[in-house]
Amino acid sequence: MSSSTSRSLRPAALVFGGSRGIGAAAVARLAAEGHAVTFTYNTSPGKAQDLVEAVERDGGRAFAVQADSADPTALRAAVDQAVEHFGELGVVVVNAGVLRTGTIDTVSLEDLDLMLAVNVRGVFLAIQATVPHLVDGARVITIGSNVAIRTGTPGASVYQLTKTAVAGMVKGVALDLASRGITVNNVQPGPIDTDLNAGALDQLAAGSPLRRVGDAAEIAGLIAFLAGDDSRYITGASLTADGGYTL
Ligand SMILES: NC(=O)c1ccc[n+]([C@@H]2O[C@H](COP(=O)([O-])OP(=O)(O)OC[C@H]3O[C@@H](n4cnc5c(N)ncnc54)[C@H](OP(=O)(O)O)[C@@H]3O)[C@@H](O)[C@H]2O)c1
Repeated sequence: MSSSTSRSLRPAALVFGGSRGIGAAAVARLAAEGHAVTFTYNTSPGKAQDLVEAVERDGGRAFAVQADSADPTALRAAVDQAVEHFGELGVVVVNAGVLRTGTIDTVSLEDLDLMLAVNVRGVFLAIQATVPHLVDGARVITIGSNVAIRTGTPGASVYQLTKTAVAGMVKGVALDLASRGITVNNVQPGPIDTDLNAGALDQLAAGSPLRRVGDAAEIAGLIAFLAGDDSRYITGASLTADGGYTL
């Protein structure tokens, strides 16, 4: 999947898991702000192609690469393709995540391994693969979950442990990369209107002080802030945008 040839004023961006939901909104927002954006997808090639075309219609540059975040080789290959296509990386967003539910007595080994592989190991390996290609002063942004780390939900214990791991992970990675001026931060959304919450949106909206769930574009706005100059003194932090859901 291709891109136009005009040059961006901003450094290249790479979004892991950008074909749908929050990731797709981040791709669109970063492209609108002048970043040439590579993004990965796993099972949604049609949505990935649609997104590339939508970005290009708006005058931006995007490039889609199939890469399963559970596959370390695929992650490294995606980074190589991104760098080959748009150059060294100034912004990395690690968004790919999966939610499988099951109480402690029922959750399957397969679902446990999938969530650990994508939501924890995949996040770590994605960042690790980008490190040799990050420009000094680059921004690394993960996507955690405020609800997952601050409340308990029956059947979500594995998802909760993965998102808690990410909030911890960014602190160490931030210190590892600080000498290069690279910031590493974790965005923690509350309930957002995406496929991940299909079927639960009314209930989630009713439980929110603002009486609505969030829009993916609202999380993309926070991602854009962390990718921009005004956030350069923020690192190792987890920033929440949850409409007050956990208050
Ligand atoms: N929605 C919420 O309320 C909410 C709240 C807090 C945190 N989050 C977190 O925000 C992130 C995005 O969630 P979302 O709601 O936008 O989810 P979504 O609508 O289900 O979209 C998930 C995205 O991640 C990609 N993805 C999933 N597994 C992947 C894999 N193995 N390899 C590569 N890409 C993969 C999907 O790509 P394909 O379709 O191509 O497979 C898709 O682009 C997740 O980390 C999620 O945990 C969401």
